[in-house]
Amino acid sequence: TLPKHVKLVEVGPRDGLQNEKETVPAEVKIELVERLAAAGLPNIEAASFVSPKWVPQMATSGEVMENLRRRPGVLYSALTPNMKGFEAALAARADEVVIFGSASEAFSQRNINCSIAESVERFRDVARAAKDNGIRLRGSISCSFGCPYEGEIAPDAVADVVRRMRDLGCDEIDIADTIGVGTPGKIATVYEAIAKEYPLGQLSGHFHDTYGQALVNIYAALQVGVSIFHASVAGLGGCPYAKGATGNVATEDVVYMLDGLGIHTGVHLDQVVDAGQFISRQLGRKAASRAGNAIANR
Ligand code: HMG
Ligand code: MG
Repeated sequence: TLPKHVKLVEVGPRDGLQNEKETVPAEVKIELVERLAAAGLPNIEAASFVSPKWVPQMATSGEVMENLRRRPGVLYSALTPNMKGFEAALAARADEVVIFGSASEAFSQRNINCSIAESVERFRDVARAAKDNGIRLRGSISCSFGCPYEGEIAPDAVADVVRRMRDLGCDEIDIADTIGVGTPGKIATVYEAIAKEYPLGQLSGHFHDTYGQALVNIYAALQVGVSIFHASVAGLGGCPYAKGATGNVATEDVVYMLDGLGIHTGVHLDQVVDAGQFISRQLGRKAASRAGNAIANR
């Protein structure tokens, strides 16, 4: 049986926009986040406090967080790779910080310039600081279903990082298909392996749609009991350190599917579609959401 409720984490303003070549003005990002919150998304990744040399697009994260009209009950999250990022997230009043590691050594080096073991040491300080300040802590694990540099990733390698993130005190752990190579059978295998290490109810699915598998992978994950999913409005995004990766599964498509299954999300489809059309207009292209475009054009 499928879960009755799903928590959707909107990652478009972060995972989506981090990948845009042209600078997206802070006002546009703010309007996008406000529209997504108004649409009922309970958790929005709105910021990333990383090196502006590595990801210039996220340099306005502080400005975005500070000028946002916050909606009561909505959690605004920020990526924090180290203490410098954490200090910035704290100053910007982030409700949740995200430490992001990888199940692949090669990707860890390319993305955050250190090994998996070194990353866990950096995260330890961030985790402690988050606890001391009463900020929710989430862990993200890239390349859980395959790596652009190493290819296949063993479920044991994912389980190992899940254990480390658990031991750091993560309140939630994201299992990410960074390059969208997973297929439903693999999804089930990986979640079954890691559910032995960490409560299934606190594991999420963060699926990119590069190979067109993201929606069916969500369905496979729902069947094994996963009830938290990440999605990106208008299918925005990719990852600067994973060549050719497309955005996450589009939020509009996920909401359309979950509505059809009678699974409650609290998200209003029409308003997410409007938010997707809004940001796509700003970026001067068509939304990468089949449901979004179908609804907008009917
Ligand atoms: P580094 O060069 O090894 O770090 O980078 P460092 O400590 O040696 O610092 C070097 C310079 O960066 C210094 O500045 C620091 O002050 C600065 P300089 O003295 O040269 O002027 N710096 C910072 N500035 C602002 N904020 C910070 C910060 N830290 C250092 N927090 C580091 C290490 C992690 C910082 C770097 O590699 C980095 O920023 N990487 C960004 C990676 C990234 O953002 N990737 C995309 C997000 S992850 C993702 O998309 C995957 C996900 O969606 C899941 C999935 O799909 O897989 C989450
Ligand atoms: Mg991602």
